Amino acid sequence: MADLSKITCIEDLRVIAKRRVPRMFYDYADSGSYTESTYRANSEDFQRIKLRQRVAVNLEGRTTRTLMVGQEAAMPVAIAPTGLTGMQHADGEILGARAAKAFGVPFTLSTMSICSLEDVSRHAGPGFWFQVYVMRDRDFIERLIDRAKAAGVSALQLTLDLQILGQRHKDIKNGLSTPPKPTVANLLNLATKPRWCLGMLGTQRRSFGNIVGHAKGVGDLSSLSSWTAEQFDPQLNWRDVEWIKKRWGGKLILKGIMDAEDARLAVASGADALIVSNHGGRQLDGAPSSIHALPAIVEAVGKDIEVWMDGGIRGGQDVLKAWALGARGTLIGRSFLYGLGAFGEAGVTRALQIIQKELDVTMAFCGHTDIHRVDRSILLPGTYPV
Ligand SMILES: Cc1cc2nc3c(=O)[nH]c(=O)nc-3n(C[C@H](O)[C@H](O)[C@H](O)COP(=O)(O)O)c2cc1C
Repeated sequence: MADLSKITCIEDLRVIAKRRVPRMFYDYADSGSYTESTYRANSEDFQRIKLRQRVAVNLEGRTTRTLMVGQEAAMPVAIAPTGLTGMQHADGEILGARAAKAFGVPFTLSTMSICSLEDVSRHAGPGFWFQVYVMRDRDFIERLIDRAKAAGVSALQLTLDLQILGQRHKDIKNGLSTPPKPTVANLLNLATKPRWCLGMLGTQRRSFGNIVGHAKGVGDLSSLSSWTAEQFDPQLNWRDVEWIKKRWGGKLILKGIMDAEDARLAVASGADALIVSNHGGRQLDGAPSSIHALPAIVEAVGKDIEVWMDGGIRGGQDVLKAWALGARGTLIGRSFLYGLGAFGEAGVTRALQIIQKELDVTMAFCGHTDIHRVDRSILLPGTYPV
């Protein structure tokens, strides 16, 4: 097993993932839509927020433990759903679920995963969540929800911000497909990624495990963008949220809320939590960063529903800042994928360790020992969005 003690930050993992993961999949992760302004703002806006250093406080017995929709988490962090994760590393979703289980944080499987619900359920812990996209084929969605129940999923995330796809230039230029097409450019690139190729040769999981063999009339799945355009339902609306809530019957989390008005509708729908998210800057380019959008949503509905956020979290400081501004949970997309692409399961564990350590130490420097006592008074006035 590789010695990861010198991997000290998420950026280290990103650099190694870039070396090890085929270009089309690395670019798929490390990109936003159009000019990528929202993608960049997601992390840059965290940097602008400053913390108040406090001293001479007894720092023994610190804890970052919390609950997310009533479920245990070692820190207010869950792994976000990401499509094609099994292309960042062979069997990526299984490895991610195992690392999350051992660490004690929830893991969310995407509808667009490579490993199937059933495969991942055999490795996941109690915090095994599933993210659903609503497709035109409603029978398929009903069966998918039933499969999630049968697989022991403990909360469902319904993503509301991807009825249509924001354009990511690199995906088009790279000809993103699953598995990659044997073009000269792809073969030359794959030749420089021997570990990745070996991993892929050792697994059967190379297509969309939740979809292939389950959805009717699915044409060419290898082209993600054309398949999305064909299958995702552009008519998705709040009545569908009601229908899914009823069909599922368990904890429901709405993902992709960026506006206080939508947040109120989310509360009215009876959901258990909402995620302030712009899909990691991959959909509406020009939307504010998630951390910027968070305070107004907490102000509007924070007393009525658990408000979480994702977008731009690259360390424990970001988690603490989000918590201070009222997020009762966060999710990590790229920080997880970079760990996975760099070192598989061990890399995901390392990413979680890096985040938790930084969260714990920063909380202590701000004079706190229990995350539940942290509020916006740890932030320097004038440096955070209101
Ligand atoms: C490569 C990639 C694939 C994603 N796929 C999905 C998905 O299938 N479903 C979904 O709801 N969100 C998806 N997202 C969005 C993430 O769940 C999350 O909102 C975002 O990554 C958070 O931003 P961060 O990457 O800066 O942490 C994806 C994000 C990335 C980077």
